[in-house]
Amino acid sequence: LRTGRGKAHAKVILFGEHAVVHGEPAVALPLAELPVRVTAEAVPGPLTIASTPYTGVLHEVPELLDAPRAVVLATLDHVGLPHEGIRIMVEGDVPPARGLGSSAAVAGALVRALADLAGRDLTEAEYLDLVAVGERVAHGSPSGLDAAATAAAEPVWFEAGVARRLATRMSGVLVVADSGVKGRTRHAVASVRTFLERRPMRGAALMTGLGALAQGGALDLTGDRPEALGEKMTQAQGMLRELGVSSPELDRLVDAALAAGALGAKLTGGGQGGCIIALAADDAAADRIDLALREAGAIGTWRHRIGPEEDR
Ligand code: PMV
Repeated sequence: LRTGRGKAHAKVILFGEHAVVHGEPAVALPLAELPVRVTAEAVPGPLTIASTPYTGVLHEVPELLDAPRAVVLATLDHVGLPHEGIRIMVEGDVPPARGLGSSAAVAGALVRALADLAGRDLTEAEYLDLVAVGERVAHGSPSGLDAAATAAAEPVWFEAGVARRLATRMSGVLVVADSGVKGRTRHAVASVRTFLERRPMRGAALMTGLGALAQGGALDLTGDRPEALGEKMTQAQGMLRELGVSSPELDRLVDAALAAGALGAKLTGGGQGGCIIALAADDAAADRIDLALREAGAIGTWRHRIGPEEDR
């Protein structure tokens, strides 16, 4: 039995969501603790996919899986495999539509597994192009940030379509909290576009401001300045709220985290639902913030340690 395997993981955007779509830089952190694994086996029969929302023949998947299907077909064509005789299994705990990059993580693991099945080593550019096929189906005009961050082992600096590794010197704990409301990346990206059309001056200032926070935040990460980093996160939240991509649920979680002693907090990803991230100085602070977030309505929380150990 020939088998191909592929893996990717969730990510959070620390700075630059939305602004990155308009040419500003962004900083993202990989969440290796939330992996997606794909196995692709050569077996006689139709092309099938087994995943949490759907198991069956790939050509019959519901709309929900249009993006992964597009990635599978594009990858099979690219590596020269037929559209039959393959069983694909997707496993992972990345919640969908929460701004954690589940669509890019699933796409990335699919691309890797099918390339592995074909015995092909893809270049980074080939990989990113194939992941982008799914991201375009999922939300129109992806920046490529999710595709890079869900494949990266270290924090990512993303600018002008190119991802670079950021060597973290800072120690801290990021608490990720799920508002329980589906994020609406496509809708939120459109809201920002409308804001920029209606209020071009203010819109441009907010884009530049978010870009500057990404620049400064990257320096805080590499220079071990958690307090300064936290302040910039909270400032970014104010700008994202003004752009219309926060929500009452996200605002409530951000306020609860700050009241519980977070160094900073903001929404992460597309927004209008999905998750927030809060920066804690240490594990004890993270425990208090975690509790406050659950009391304020978070339906799930995760921890991510930011630290020089990521600096491989
Ligand atoms: O919600 P997510 O995880 O898909 O993140 C979207 C990030 C945006 O900047 C809003 C869009 C993009 O393509 O970068």
